[in-house]
Amino acid sequence: MLLGIPLETKDRECRVALTPEICGQLIEAGFTVQLEKGAGLKSYYPDDQYIAKGVQLVNDAASIYSNSDVVLKVNAPTSSEISGMKKGAILMSFMWAGTNPELIENCVKQGISAFSVDAIPRISRAQKMDALSSQANLAGYKSVIMGANALGKIFPMLMTAAGTIKPSKVLIFGAGVAGLQAIATAKRLGSIVEVTDIRPETKEQVESLGGKFIMVSDDASIKIEGGYVKGVSDEFLKKQQELVSKHVATADLVITTALIPGRKAPVLVTEDMVKSMKYGSVIVDMAVEQGGNCVLSELNATVVKHGVTIIGESNIPSLLPLNASDLYAKNIQTFLLHLATKDGFKWEMDEEITKGSLLVHNGVSTATK
Ligand code: NAI
Repeated sequence: MLLGIPLETKDRECRVALTPEICGQLIEAGFTVQLEKGAGLKSYYPDDQYIAKGVQLVNDAASIYSNSDVVLKVNAPTSSEISGMKKGAILMSFMWAGTNPELIENCVKQGISAFSVDAIPRISRAQKMDALSSQANLAGYKSVIMGANALGKIFPMLMTAAGTIKPSKVLIFGAGVAGLQAIATAKRLGSIVEVTDIRPETKEQVESLGGKFIMVSDDASIKIEGGYVKGVSDEFLKKQQELVSKHVATADLVITTALIPGRKAPVLVTEDMVKSMKYGSVIVDMAVEQGGNCVLSELNATVVKHGVTIIGESNIPSLLPLNASDLYAKNIQTFLLHLATKDGFKWEMDEEITKGSLLVHNGVSTATK
Protein backbone atom coordinates (compact mmCIF):
# COMPACT_ATOMS: atom_id res chain seq x y z
CA MET A 1 0.00 0.00 0.00
CA LEU A 2 1.19 3.47 -0.83
CA LEU A 3 0.99 5.90 2.09
CA GLY A 4 1.07 9.61 1.20
CA ILE A 5 1.96 12.53 3.47
CA PRO A 6 1.10 15.96 2.06
CA LEU A 7 2.33 19.23 3.54
CA GLU A 8 -0.18 20.61 6.06
CA THR A 9 -1.72 23.71 4.47
CA LYS A 10 -3.84 25.00 7.37
CA ASP A 11 -2.77 28.35 8.77
CA ARG A 12 -0.62 28.12 11.95
CA GLU A 13 0.08 24.41 11.40
CA CYS A 14 3.66 23.21 11.87
CA ARG A 15 3.03 19.51 12.49
CA VAL A 16 3.49 16.61 10.07
CA ALA A 17 1.57 13.32 10.14
CA LEU A 18 4.58 10.97 10.02
CA THR A 19 8.15 11.50 11.24
CA PRO A 20 11.20 9.95 9.53
CA GLU A 21 11.54 7.34 12.27
CA ILE A 22 7.93 6.13 11.95
CA CYS A 23 8.19 6.19 8.15
CA GLY A 24 11.23 3.90 8.44
CA GLN A 25 9.28 1.46 10.62
CA LEU A 26 6.33 1.40 8.22
CA ILE A 27 8.63 0.87 5.24
CA GLU A 28 10.23 -2.05 7.10
CA ALA A 29 6.73 -3.42 7.63
CA GLY A 30 6.21 -3.45 3.86
CA PHE A 31 4.47 -0.14 3.11
CA THR A 32 5.66 2.37 0.53
CA VAL A 33 5.75 5.98 1.78
CA GLN A 34 5.69 9.16 -0.31
CA LEU A 35 6.14 12.61 1.23
CA GLU A 36 5.52 16.01 -0.30
CA LYS A 37 8.83 17.86 -0.35
CA GLY A 38 9.28 20.00 2.76
CA ALA A 39 6.29 18.52 4.62
CA GLY A 40 8.38 17.84 7.74
CA LEU A 41 10.40 21.03 7.71
CA LYS A 42 8.30 23.04 10.17
CA SER A 43 8.57 20.10 12.58
CA TYR A 44 12.36 20.30 12.14
CA TYR A 45 12.47 17.14 10.03
CA PRO A 46 14.23 18.00 6.76
CA ASP A 47 13.72 15.96 3.60
CA ASP A 48 17.10 14.19 3.82
CA GLN A 49 16.06 12.50 7.09
CA TYR A 50 13.05 11.00 5.30
CA ILE A 51 15.15 9.96 2.29
CA ALA A 52 17.57 8.19 4.63
CA LYS A 53 14.66 6.07 5.87
CA GLY A 54 13.58 5.10 2.35
CA VAL A 55 10.78 7.63 1.82
CA GLN A 56 10.13 8.77 -1.78
CA LEU A 57 9.93 12.56 -2.13
CA VAL A 58 7.25 14.05 -4.37
CA ASN A 59 7.31 17.63 -5.66
CA ASP A 60 3.62 18.50 -5.48
CA ALA A 61 0.66 17.82 -3.25
CA ALA A 62 -1.58 16.92 -6.22
CA SER A 63 0.50 13.80 -6.96
CA ILE A 64 0.35 12.72 -3.32
CA TYR A 65 -3.45 13.01 -3.30
CA SER A 66 -3.95 11.29 -6.66
CA ASN A 67 -1.47 8.40 -6.14
CA SER A 68 -1.86 7.42 -2.47
CA ASP A 69 -3.89 4.45 -1.28
CA VAL A 70 -3.90 6.07 2.16
CA VAL A 71 -3.48 9.80 2.79
CA LEU A 72 -2.23 10.49 6.32
CA LYS A 73 -2.72 14.01 7.66
CA VAL A 74 -2.98 16.04 10.85
CA ASN A 75 -5.81 18.34 9.71
CA ALA A 76 -8.60 17.29 7.37
CA PRO A 77 -7.89 18.13 3.71
CA THR A 78 -9.77 20.92 1.93
CA SER A 79 -12.57 20.09 -0.51
CA SER A 80 -10.25 20.61 -3.49
CA GLU A 81 -7.61 18.35 -1.95
CA ILE A 82 -10.25 15.64 -1.41
CA SER A 83 -11.44 16.03 -5.00
CA GLY A 84 -7.92 15.03 -6.11
CA MET A 85 -8.03 11.68 -4.26
CA LYS A 86 -8.61 8.48 -6.16
CA LYS A 87 -11.86 6.56 -5.71
CA GLY A 88 -11.56 3.92 -3.00
CA ALA A 89 -8.59 5.65 -1.32
CA ILE A 90 -8.50 6.10 2.46
CA LEU A 91 -8.05 9.24 4.50
CA MET A 92 -6.89 9.37 8.13
CA SER A 93 -6.76 12.69 10.05
CA PHE A 94 -8.51 14.84 12.63
CA MET A 95 -11.98 15.57 11.20
CA TRP A 96 -14.22 16.99 13.95
CA ALA A 97 -17.16 15.67 11.94
CA GLY A 98 -19.76 16.93 14.43
CA THR A 99 -18.99 20.51 13.44
CA ASN A 100 -17.79 19.76 9.92
CA PRO A 101 -20.59 18.04 7.95
CA GLU A 102 -19.31 19.39 4.61
CA LEU A 103 -16.16 17.32 4.97
CA ILE A 104 -18.17 14.12 5.22
CA GLU A 105 -20.21 15.11 2.16
CA ASN A 106 -16.98 15.70 0.20
CA CYS A 107 -15.61 12.27 1.17
CA VAL A 108 -18.91 10.66 0.15
CA LYS A 109 -18.91 12.50 -3.18
CA GLN A 110 -15.35 11.39 -3.92
CA GLY A 111 -16.11 7.73 -3.12
CA ILE A 112 -13.32 7.44 -0.54
CA SER A 113 -13.17 6.09 3.02
CA ALA A 114 -12.40 8.35 5.98
CA PHE A 115 -11.18 7.52 9.49
CA SER A 116 -11.25 10.34 12.04
CA VAL A 117 -8.62 10.22 14.79
CA ASP A 118 -10.75 12.41 17.05
CA ALA A 119 -13.49 9.77 16.95
CA ILE A 120 -11.33 6.88 18.17
CA PRO A 121 -13.09 5.56 21.30
CA ARG A 122 -11.23 6.41 24.52
CA ILE A 123 -10.84 2.84 25.68
CA SER A 124 -7.71 1.37 27.29
CA ARG A 125 -6.56 -0.58 24.24
CA ALA A 126 -6.80 2.54 22.06
CA GLN A 127 -4.60 4.67 24.33
CA LYS A 128 -1.58 4.41 22.01
CA MET A 129 -3.73 5.78 19.17
CA ASP A 130 -5.28 8.57 21.24
CA ALA A 131 -4.17 11.71 19.42
CA LEU A 132 -6.63 13.86 21.38
CA SER A 133 -4.72 12.99 24.55
CA SER A 134 -1.22 13.17 23.11
CA GLN A 135 -1.83 16.65 21.72
CA ALA A 136 -3.82 17.96 24.71
CA ASN A 137 -1.07 16.82 27.05
CA LEU A 138 1.52 18.92 25.20
CA ALA A 139 -0.89 21.85 24.92
CA GLY A 140 -1.43 21.81 28.70
CA TYR A 141 2.32 22.11 29.25
CA LYS A 142 2.76 24.87 26.69
CA SER A 143 -0.19 26.89 28.01
CA VAL A 144 1.65 27.32 31.32
CA ILE A 145 4.89 28.30 29.55
CA MET A 146 3.01 30.85 27.41
CA GLY A 147 1.24 32.24 30.46
CA ALA A 148 4.46 32.43 32.46
CA ASN A 149 6.16 34.20 29.59
CA ALA A 150 3.45 36.85 29.38
CA LEU A 151 3.45 37.43 33.15
CA GLY A 152 5.62 40.19 34.62
CA LYS A 153 6.61 38.00 37.55
CA ILE A 154 8.11 34.63 38.40
CA PHE A 155 6.26 31.55 39.68
CA PRO A 156 8.16 30.39 42.78
CA MET A 157 8.64 32.02 46.15
CA LEU A 158 12.08 33.58 46.31
CA MET A 159 13.80 34.82 49.45
CA THR A 160 16.53 37.27 48.57
CA ALA A 161 18.55 39.90 50.40
CA ALA A 162 16.42 42.50 48.65
CA GLY A 163 13.17 41.01 49.86
CA THR A 164 10.86 38.02 49.55
CA ILE A 165 8.91 37.36 46.36
CA LYS A 166 5.58 35.67 46.96
CA PRO A 167 4.76 32.68 44.75
CA SER A 168 2.39 33.27 41.82
CA LYS A 169 -1.07 31.76 41.87
CA VAL A 170 -2.31 29.80 38.87
CA LEU A 171 -6.01 28.95 38.54
CA ILE A 172 -6.96 26.19 36.12
CA PHE A 173 -10.47 25.55 34.85
CA GLY A 174 -10.97 21.94 33.73
CA ALA A 175 -8.90 18.96 34.87
CA GLY A 176 -9.01 16.83 31.72
CA VAL A 177 -5.84 15.79 29.91
CA ALA A 178 -4.64 19.35 29.19
CA GLY A 179 -5.62 20.67 32.62
CA LEU A 180 -3.82 17.89 34.51
CA GLN A 181 -0.61 18.52 32.56
CA ALA A 182 -0.99 22.26 33.19
CA ILE A 183 -1.27 21.58 36.95
CA ALA A 184 1.88 19.44 36.95
CA THR A 185 3.81 22.02 34.92
CA ALA A 186 2.71 25.00 37.04
CA LYS A 187 3.59 23.10 40.22
CA ARG A 188 7.02 22.18 38.87
CA LEU A 189 7.65 25.87 38.19
CA GLY A 190 6.84 26.64 41.81
CA SER A 191 3.44 28.31 41.75
CA ILE A 192 0.41 27.74 43.94
CA VAL A 193 -2.21 25.95 41.83
CA GLU A 194 -5.99 26.03 42.26
CA VAL A 195 -8.25 23.96 40.03
CA THR A 196 -11.94 23.62 39.38
CA ASP A 197 -13.83 20.99 37.39
CA ILE A 198 -17.39 19.79 37.53
CA ARG A 199 -16.60 16.10 37.25
CA PRO A 200 -16.27 15.07 40.93
CA GLU A 201 -13.70 12.33 40.20
CA THR A 202 -11.17 14.97 39.16
CA LYS A 203 -10.78 16.15 42.81
CA GLU A 204 -8.52 13.23 43.69
CA GLN A 205 -6.51 13.55 40.45
CA VAL A 206 -5.96 17.28 41.07
CA GLU A 207 -4.90 16.73 44.68
CA SER A 208 -2.50 13.95 43.73
CA LEU A 209 -0.66 16.51 41.57
CA GLY A 210 -0.49 19.01 44.43
CA GLY A 211 -3.34 21.25 43.25
CA LYS A 212 -6.02 22.69 45.52
CA PHE A 213 -9.46 21.67 44.31
CA ILE A 214 -12.29 24.20 44.27
CA MET A 215 -15.45 22.17 44.70
CA VAL A 216 -18.51 23.42 42.86
CA SER A 217 -21.66 21.92 44.31
CA ASP A 218 -23.21 19.09 42.34
CA ASP A 219 -26.16 20.03 40.16
CA ALA A 220 -28.85 17.97 38.48
CA SER A 221 -28.20 19.80 35.20
CA ILE A 222 -24.64 18.41 34.89
CA LYS A 223 -24.78 15.61 32.35
CA ILE A 224 -21.77 13.31 32.23
CA GLU A 225 -21.44 10.46 29.73
CA GLY A 226 -18.38 8.25 29.26
CA GLY A 227 -16.22 10.60 31.34
CA TYR A 228 -17.22 13.67 29.31
CA VAL A 229 -19.37 16.60 30.35
CA LYS A 230 -22.28 16.57 27.87
CA GLY A 231 -24.04 19.67 29.13
CA VAL A 232 -24.76 22.04 32.02
CA SER A 233 -27.50 24.62 32.52
CA ASP A 234 -26.94 28.37 32.28
CA GLU A 235 -28.16 28.72 35.88
CA PHE A 236 -25.47 26.34 37.03
CA LEU A 237 -22.78 28.22 35.08
CA LYS A 238 -23.91 31.42 36.84
CA LYS A 239 -23.60 29.75 40.25
CA GLN A 240 -20.18 28.41 39.29
CA GLN A 241 -19.03 31.88 38.15
CA GLU A 242 -20.06 33.37 41.52
CA LEU A 243 -18.21 30.70 43.46
CA VAL A 244 -14.95 30.89 41.53
CA SER A 245 -14.92 34.66 41.00
CA LYS A 246 -13.00 35.35 44.22
CA HIS A 247 -10.34 32.86 43.12
CA VAL A 248 -10.11 34.53 39.70
CA ALA A 249 -9.64 37.94 41.35
CA THR A 250 -6.55 36.75 43.24
CA ALA A 251 -4.96 34.66 40.45
CA ASP A 252 -1.91 35.80 38.50
CA LEU A 253 -2.51 33.33 35.68
CA VAL A 254 -5.83 31.73 34.70
CA ILE A 255 -5.78 28.81 32.26
CA THR A 256 -9.13 27.64 30.92
CA THR A 257 -9.47 24.21 29.29
CA ALA A 258 -13.18 23.44 29.79
CA LEU A 259 -14.83 21.82 26.79
CA ILE A 260 -18.12 20.12 26.09
CA PRO A 261 -17.58 17.84 23.05
CA GLY A 262 -19.62 18.88 20.00
CA ARG A 263 -20.94 22.02 21.75
CA LYS A 264 -19.82 25.59 22.30
CA ALA A 265 -17.41 25.87 25.25
CA PRO A 266 -19.04 27.03 28.52
CA VAL A 267 -18.48 30.66 29.53
CA LEU A 268 -16.57 30.59 32.80
CA VAL A 269 -14.84 33.98 32.92
CA THR A 270 -17.10 37.01 32.41
CA GLU A 271 -16.02 40.57 31.68
CA ASP A 272 -16.67 41.54 35.33
CA MET A 273 -14.37 38.73 36.43
CA VAL A 274 -11.62 40.01 34.11
CA LYS A 275 -12.13 43.51 35.53
CA SER A 276 -11.68 42.12 39.04
CA MET A 277 -8.27 40.65 38.20
CA LYS A 278 -4.99 42.30 39.15
CA TYR A 279 -3.39 44.62 36.61
CA GLY A 280 -0.83 42.56 34.65
CA SER A 281 -2.53 39.19 35.19
CA VAL A 282 -2.78 36.74 32.29
CA ILE A 283 -5.49 34.44 30.94
CA VAL A 284 -4.73 31.60 28.50
CA ASP A 285 -8.03 30.51 26.92
CA MET A 286 -7.44 27.04 25.52
CA ALA A 287 -11.08 26.73 24.49
CA VAL A 288 -10.91 29.77 22.19
CA GLU A 289 -11.59 27.76 19.00
CA GLN A 290 -14.81 26.37 20.50
CA GLY A 291 -16.04 29.88 21.35
CA GLY A 292 -13.85 30.45 24.40
CA ASN A 293 -14.23 30.03 28.17
CA CYS A 294 -13.52 33.76 28.58
CA VAL A 295 -15.90 36.22 26.93
CA LEU A 296 -13.09 38.61 26.03
CA SER A 297 -10.69 36.20 24.33
CA GLU A 298 -10.10 36.57 20.59
CA LEU A 299 -9.22 33.74 18.21
CA ASN A 300 -5.50 33.58 17.40
CA ALA A 301 -4.78 36.89 19.06
CA THR A 302 -3.27 38.16 22.28
CA VAL A 303 -5.24 41.12 23.56
CA VAL A 304 -5.00 43.29 26.67
CA LYS A 305 -8.38 44.06 28.26
CA HIS A 306 -8.78 45.90 31.59
CA GLY A 307 -5.03 45.47 32.14
CA VAL A 308 -5.23 41.68 31.71
CA THR A 309 -3.37 39.92 28.87
CA ILE A 310 -5.66 37.35 27.24
CA ILE A 311 -4.02 34.76 25.00
CA GLY A 312 -6.30 33.07 22.44
CA GLU A 313 -3.98 30.75 20.51
CA SER A 314 -6.05 28.06 18.78
CA ASN A 315 -3.36 25.55 17.86
CA ILE A 316 -1.11 25.19 20.88
CA PRO A 317 0.25 21.69 20.04
CA SER A 318 1.62 23.14 16.80
CA LEU A 319 3.84 25.43 18.90
CA LEU A 320 5.69 22.28 19.99
CA PRO A 321 5.88 20.67 16.53
CA LEU A 322 8.76 18.30 17.29
CA ASN A 323 7.08 16.55 20.20
CA ALA A 324 3.59 16.94 18.77
CA SER A 325 4.56 15.33 15.44
CA ASP A 326 6.50 12.56 17.21
CA LEU A 327 3.49 11.62 19.33
CA TYR A 328 0.96 12.09 16.53
CA ALA A 329 3.05 9.91 14.19
CA LYS A 330 3.12 7.14 16.81
CA ASN A 331 -0.66 7.50 17.27
CA ILE A 332 -1.26 7.27 13.50
CA GLN A 333 1.14 4.34 13.05
CA THR A 334 -0.60 2.35 15.80
CA PHE A 335 -4.03 3.25 14.39
CA LEU A 336 -3.00 2.26 10.85
CA LEU A 337 -1.46 -1.06 11.94
CA HIS A 338 -4.61 -1.80 13.95
CA LEU A 339 -6.77 -1.30 10.86
CA ALA A 340 -4.52 -2.62 8.10
CA THR A 341 -1.58 -4.73 6.96
CA LYS A 342 0.71 -3.79 4.08
CA ASP A 343 -1.68 -5.65 1.78
CA GLY A 344 -4.85 -3.76 2.64
CA PHE A 345 -7.43 -2.75 5.24
CA LYS A 346 -9.19 -5.42 7.29
CA TRP A 347 -12.59 -3.66 7.42
CA GLU A 348 -13.68 -5.36 10.67
CA MET A 349 -16.90 -3.41 10.77
CA ASP A 350 -18.07 -4.64 14.18
CA GLU A 351 -14.77 -3.98 15.92
CA GLU A 352 -15.11 -1.09 18.42
CA ILE A 353 -12.25 1.15 17.22
CA THR A 354 -13.15 0.70 13.53
CA LYS A 355 -16.82 1.31 14.27
CA GLY A 356 -16.14 4.49 16.26
CA SER A 357 -13.66 6.09 13.90
CA LEU A 358 -14.83 5.12 10.39
CA LEU A 359 -17.00 7.99 9.19
CA VAL A 360 -17.22 7.17 5.49
CA HIS A 361 -16.75 3.75 3.88
CA ASN A 362 -16.24 3.63 0.12
CA GLY A 363 -18.36 6.73 -0.42
CA VAL A 364 -21.11 5.85 2.07
CA SER A 365 -21.44 7.75 5.33
CA THR A 366 -21.47 5.27 8.23
CA ALA A 367 -24.00 7.53 10.00
CA THR A 368 -26.55 6.60 7.33
CA LYS A 369 -25.90 2.85 7.52
P1 NAI B 1 -12.27 17.79 27.48
O1 NAI B 1 -11.15 18.41 26.68
O2 NAI B 1 -13.50 17.38 26.78
O3 NAI B 1 -12.67 18.79 28.67
C1 NAI B 1 -11.71 19.34 29.53
C2 NAI B 1 -12.22 19.38 30.95
O4 NAI B 1 -13.18 20.43 31.10
C3 NAI B 1 -12.93 18.12 31.44
O5 NAI B 1 -12.24 17.62 32.56
C4 NAI B 1 -14.34 18.60 31.79
O6 NAI B 1 -14.87 17.91 32.92
C5 NAI B 1 -14.08 20.05 32.11
N1 NAI B 1 -15.28 20.91 32.13
C6 NAI B 1 -16.35 20.92 31.29
N2 NAI B 1 -17.24 21.87 31.67
C7 NAI B 1 -16.68 22.51 32.75
C8 NAI B 1 -17.10 23.58 33.59
N3 NAI B 1 -18.27 24.21 33.42
N4 NAI B 1 -16.28 23.94 34.60
C9 NAI B 1 -15.09 23.33 34.81
N5 NAI B 1 -14.65 22.31 34.06
C10 NAI B 1 -15.43 21.91 33.04
O7 NAI B 1 -11.68 16.56 28.31
P2 NAI B 1 -10.52 15.55 27.95
O8 NAI B 1 -9.25 16.09 28.43
O9 NAI B 1 -10.60 15.17 26.53
O10 NAI B 1 -10.91 14.29 28.86
C11 NAI B 1 -12.25 13.86 28.94
C12 NAI B 1 -12.41 12.54 29.62
O11 NAI B 1 -11.82 11.50 28.88
C13 NAI B 1 -11.80 12.45 31.00
O12 NAI B 1 -12.71 11.73 31.81
C14 NAI B 1 -10.56 11.63 30.81
O13 NAI B 1 -10.17 10.96 31.99
C15 NAI B 1 -11.07 10.68 29.75
N6 NAI B 1 -9.98 10.08 29.00
C16 NAI B 1 -9.91 8.70 28.90
C17 NAI B 1 -8.89 8.10 28.22
C18 NAI B 1 -8.82 6.60 28.13
O14 NAI B 1 -9.40 5.91 28.90
N7 NAI B 1 -8.13 6.08 27.14
C19 NAI B 1 -7.85 8.88 27.55
C20 NAI B 1 -8.02 10.31 27.70
C21 NAI B 1 -9.05 10.86 28.39
